[in-house]
Amino acid sequence: MPDRFFVTTPIYYVNDVPHIGHAYTTVTADALARWHRLLGEDVFFLTGTDEHGLKIARSAEAHGVTPQQQADETSARFQETWDLLDIVPDRFIRTTDPDHTATVQAFLQKVHDNGHIYRDSYAGWYCVACEAYYEEDDLLPNPDGGNGLDPVHERPVEWFEEDNWFFRLSAFEQPLLDWYAAHPDAVGPEGKRNEALGLIKQGLRDISITRSSLDWGVPVPWDPGQVFYVWYDALINYATAVGYGTDPERFAAWWPHVHHLLAKDILRFHCVYWPAMLLAAGEEPPASIDVHGYLTVGGKKMSKTSLNQIFPADLVEEFGVDGFRYHFLRDNSFGPDGDFSYEGMISRYNSDLANNFGNLLSRVSTVVAKKCDGIGPAPRPDSPLAAVAAEALADATAAWAAVQPSMALDATWRLIRETNSLLETTEPWKLDPGPEVDGVLGDALEVLRLVSILASPALTRAPQEVWRRIGLSGAPTDRQLPAAAAWGQYPGGLPVEKAAPLFPRLKPVE
Ligand code: MSP
Repeated sequence: MPDRFFVTTPIYYVNDVPHIGHAYTTVTADALARWHRLLGEDVFFLTGTDEHGLKIARSAEAHGVTPQQQADETSARFQETWDLLDIVPDRFIRTTDPDHTATVQAFLQKVHDNGHIYRDSYAGWYCVACEAYYEEDDLLPNPDGGNGLDPVHERPVEWFEEDNWFFRLSAFEQPLLDWYAAHPDAVGPEGKRNEALGLIKQGLRDISITRSSLDWGVPVPWDPGQVFYVWYDALINYATAVGYGTDPERFAAWWPHVHHLLAKDILRFHCVYWPAMLLAAGEEPPASIDVHGYLTVGGKKMSKTSLNQIFPADLVEEFGVDGFRYHFLRDNSFGPDGDFSYEGMISRYNSDLANNFGNLLSRVSTVVAKKCDGIGPAPRPDSPLAAVAAEALADATAAWAAVQPSMALDATWRLIRETNSLLETTEPWKLDPGPEVDGVLGDALEVLRLVSILASPALTRAPQEVWRRIGLSGAPTDRQLPAAAAWGQYPGGLPVEKAAPLFPRLKPVE
């Protein structure tokens, strides 16, 4: 049985169209899914849209459409954007999908039957932008003197009073601490794990999980006049996608081998509420929660109100799909915040893609045309690059396992740089045809074969093209690691095509 790898992104709200912040998490998940497929694992990659709740109902009202229309239109924008970026989920889930309603009801009915849900009245502060409850102490002072501001969006919170159903979150303080103690690697990076533990240790209060003043949501099965609180609906999407309540065998096969990717804005929901809900339903918390920082623009988190949103299509037009994906995977280390810079994106594209990768291919194909009649020679078994290639594979493997795409690509590009250096020191273009020229070019062709495989989770187009130009059949993504990375598999004797630059250089910003 191959290992299973289930990777998820947050499901995005449909009040806003996708920007590069959403794309960052989703490209990372797509690349991880591709890497694990290369390892021969059984992979399931899930993304989608979060469509219920007050925030969407109000946004639809403001746009003069029904919530369903708003959801249909915006969800389609997410799907188009993921198509544009070669992001290929195994399922794009929508919380308005019928199987999701069935799963939410089955899941929360189970929590109810297990005795963890009770009726009470709620009175407190609520932020519609976050769809979250706040304690008075959590709020920032409002300079205009009105209600306090939520700490994420810095918008005034609203006072809510309702008769609701409550989840006994307080009962899960100790079980959560015990679970985290037994699973020290469940949340990464380390700092984010400490943040999650800090939230639990502060003490957990029971939480209202239904709304009676809203009907845009999943009805509570034992009290159909209410709908579930949107987060308690949304988090369950991860269980819907693998069959909770609809296909028990499938759920048992996939759960809890799940890797949730998200930004720190929703750490509390994923590291506190969701594991507690799972424990309450008698299920295991997720195997892994990987939390990254914010992508900022001009030092501020991207948002509608800051007017600093950047949209993927604008960058793809200039950098191509590979340029877009490479930039976000390579330039933003997974964990800390990172400021987006257009200048930085151009300079990374020019150095890594145009100069290093693109140049290696054009040099090799030019010299093979000149000195080897266009037929690629075989690599040398004792090549000085064999050890470098083995190290690149080992380092990239460790980095992808640690959810550090930037380090994985850095390891892969080290191999490209070493190969360019070998070409520069031996200068095969100056030598007469013969065994030395053949050896160096064979080695370089082997590196192009290897890099096409190792870079394929990040770059969805160039590796396939390199593969074809160096005369190989099939696709780099058909190969399986680690076997496909053993040195010396480029067979030699294949036609090598000399063609236009893979990554045309971009003009640096003046
Ligand atoms: N609907 C909830 C999530 C429910 S998951 C069960 C939600 N939606 S959201 O549209 O606000 O998306 C938040 C997520 O989008 C972040 O956690 C992150 O994955 C991504 N990002 C949105 N803006 C981002 C940045 N500026 N920087 C990094 N990631 C960003 O919360």
